[in-house]
Amino acid sequence: MSKYQPSAFRYQSMSYRRSGKSGLVFPALSLGLWHNFGYVNVFENSRNLIRTAFNHGITHFDLANNYGPPPGSAESVFGEILKLDFRSYRDEMIISTKAGYTMWDGPYGDWGSKKYLVSSLDASLQRMKLDYVDIFYHHRPDPGTPIAETMQSLDLIVRQGKALYVGLSNYTADQTAEALTILKQLGTPCLIHQPKYSLFERGPESGLLHLLEDSGVGCIAFSPLAQGLLTDKYLNGIPVDSRVMTSGQFLKESNITTGKIEKVRLLNEIAQNRGQKLVHMALSWILKYPVVTSVLIGASRPEQITDALLCLENLTFSDEELKAIDTALSNE
Ligand SMILES: NC(=O)c1ccc[n+]([C@@H]2O[C@H](COP(=O)([O-])OP(=O)(O)OC[C@H]3O[C@@H](n4cnc5c(N)ncnc54)[C@H](OP(=O)(O)O)[C@@H]3O)[C@@H](O)[C@H]2O)c1
Repeated sequence: MSKYQPSAFRYQSMSYRRSGKSGLVFPALSLGLWHNFGYVNVFENSRNLIRTAFNHGITHFDLANNYGPPPGSAESVFGEILKLDFRSYRDEMIISTKAGYTMWDGPYGDWGSKKYLVSSLDASLQRMKLDYVDIFYHHRPDPGTPIAETMQSLDLIVRQGKALYVGLSNYTADQTAEALTILKQLGTPCLIHQPKYSLFERGPESGLLHLLEDSGVGCIAFSPLAQGLLTDKYLNGIPVDSRVMTSGQFLKESNITTGKIEKVRLLNEIAQNRGQKLVHMALSWILKYPVVTSVLIGASRPEQITDALLCLENLTFSDEELKAIDTALSNE
């Protein structure tokens, strides 16, 4: 691959949104490395995905200790891409990682103890060949560890200089409220929450989004396309190059039910009436909420990133459109 020279126009078309009441702005679209960055994937494609994103003003790249497969390999691959192409651009990037799911054998490689979180971030930094990450998340709440210990670990990591900011992911509204209070007391306020949020996952609307707004904390919505379901790709069967066929671990053939596809078909019609593709409507529908800082997409090929960016052209919805969307989603 030729030497990478980022586009000189990379900051011209992206919009940047502030995360809550913090000093940090995010691109409206961010890129996640959950899929397509493991040792099982083609390195040059992964490298092209990061280059394409950065060329279009996507400054935020989201990882976790366990992304791959195998676990850890997405961070290693990303570290290699950073070394080859982005050595001079580290200060233009927001890089996040997480710990909270099973990472290594035994009782100290999972959940939310200080022992796990501190050593996991050390290993992540080594894999990515970085001195620090911009954001370190607790990936999921741990019913066995006192929440105060987990929050003290996040605070410690920031004080050690290994992360600039901290975030929470998959915490309910009540768990988030408790965590935010402790983090504030510790002097390391939570920067952002990362919930699963899409047309198909409306959970954050019952409490979490209001809490984040009231607390001045940002929100980055993961799997905004429901792993690809909220596009037109599954309308006429399951394509061979889709996530269901290439991975099949988290989005399975059994998830592509007739009921789901009927909803997708109805949503697709609403999108067309708005002059959008479904993929764009699914993203702009989330971005219409001011509390949402960014939508965190995945992509298996570079063209999907440039395509997804077109959602920014129309972020407004009429009351009729919103009603039609809710009706389509309640269709049984
Ligand atoms: N905190 C957590 O617990 C958690 C959990 C899951 C994910 N995440 C984060 O969220 C990120 C995104 O998750 P996700 O990959 O599920 O997101 P997603 O955006 O809902 O789904 C990505 C998939 O949608 C399809 N796609 C994307 N753009 C498209 C386009 N323009 N046209 C047609 N299809 C398109 C591609 O599917 P094909 O592969 O079929 O082409 C792509 O792999 C992850 O990488 C990770 O960083 C966090």
